[in-house]
Amino acid sequence: MRRMAIRYQALRGTRDLLPEEVGAWRLLEETTHEVFARYGFRELRTPVFEATELFSRSVGAGTDIVRKEMYTFNVGDESVTLRPENTAPVVRAFVEHALHRTIAAGFPERLYYMGPMFRHERPQKGRQRQFHQIGAEVLGAAEPLADAETIEMVWSLLDALGIDDRELRLNTVGDAVCRPRYREALTQWLAPRVAAMCDDCQRRAKENPLRVFDCKVEADRRLLEDAPAMTGSLCAPCTAHFDAVRETLDRFTIPYVVDPRLVRGLDYYQRTVFEVVATGLGAQNALLGGGRYDGLVEELGGPAIPGFGFAAGMERLVLVMGTGAASGAVSDVLIVGLGETGFRASIGLARSLRKLGVRVATSLTERTLGAQLKRAERVGARFALFVGDTELSRGRFGLKNLTTGEQIEVDEAGIEAAVRPERNRHGR
Ligand code: HAM
Repeated sequence: MRRMAIRYQALRGTRDLLPEEVGAWRLLEETTHEVFARYGFRELRTPVFEATELFSRSVGAGTDIVRKEMYTFNVGDESVTLRPENTAPVVRAFVEHALHRTIAAGFPERLYYMGPMFRHERPQKGRQRQFHQIGAEVLGAAEPLADAETIEMVWSLLDALGIDDRELRLNTVGDAVCRPRYREALTQWLAPRVAAMCDDCQRRAKENPLRVFDCKVEADRRLLEDAPAMTGSLCAPCTAHFDAVRETLDRFTIPYVVDPRLVRGLDYYQRTVFEVVATGLGAQNALLGGGRYDGLVEELGGPAIPGFGFAAGMERLVLVMGTGAASGAVSDVLIVGLGETGFRASIGLARSLRKLGVRVATSLTERTLGAQLKRAERVGARFALFVGDTELSRGRFGLKNLTTGEQIEVDEAGIEAAVRPERNRHGR
């Protein structure tokens, strides 16, 4: 019996990055490596899955991420989760490898990462179930300067990527001293109103009232506009910290708006929180977000070491980077072997040119001149080199510039220099 043909598709919320798109991603990755290195950040790569408890303890059991969005499964008697974010894994690695031993006052550990994250959310423009983040974490700096300098690095990255449609939103969520006071004030404010709010908010009001600000229901959001702001309950050290961050950003001439409703959807934050939004992105307009998480290292079994960091959605960055970063040519030269001898010689020539670093395209079978030239555009070739009996006996080859149509003759030793582009560092 014939088996039914099944057409497989990438799962909802995941997508393939086709060769045409990868150029922009590589530009993003390489620009990030370059900008972050200027600020003393070192790359750390952690596994894509971790013990489930790592995330429930850090991101918070009452958050949408942990309650509804994690890809969690059991293998044997272990519960593992595909990472929904990477701050907890970075802190886990920091503690596991005792990286705090190398930090000194004023010289924190600065780490960064990029890679896939997984959240089971409803897919839409700029929101996927497998998405990618670039993130950075500063471990061991309590100074407000760490917050401001990291935000300044974000600004430099966006500058380098040509993203100027951006708005920095800033807030403080207080600390273990003043947040309970705020929680109390908010609980009292919510008490007479919560019955009219959505089921999630009713639960949040009981379990973790600050999470009501994560609500996406329009009527609830409008209601919450009149809720008391954290700034009214701040303790003196938190006020001083927030003032210092703002003063430094002013000194760096980085514009921001203070948004008292900004609490972010993860529980580990203390004091500064921030987001950068881009108007061109539509509903999912947060390009990146982050903040300070001073209690997290201790919560995950390490010493009392403060932290500050952020993560940016790479899909969203690529969307607003525009199309200027297209990948362009992928081959320097297409070697056109003509006839049996020409075809065999073209394979040998391709090998020697590739050893010299030239990007070479060749046909794997003997084909006509016309058929081969037709492929030149598809393989992104800038030149075509003709290799037939006559050329081989004379030791000189026709080299055609496929952009200008101009043709010259070169001998074997001259091919490399003639086809090498003035390539930039990224090979584009
Ligand atoms: P987050 O706000 O949950 O923070 O995510 C950061 C960024 O990742 C968002 O601003 C957005 O650009 C992108 N993102 C999140 N979910 C999706 C999705 N489903 N599809 C596409 N992009 C998405 C964190 O993850 C924290 N770990 C940031 C941080 C680092 N805080 C301190 N250090």
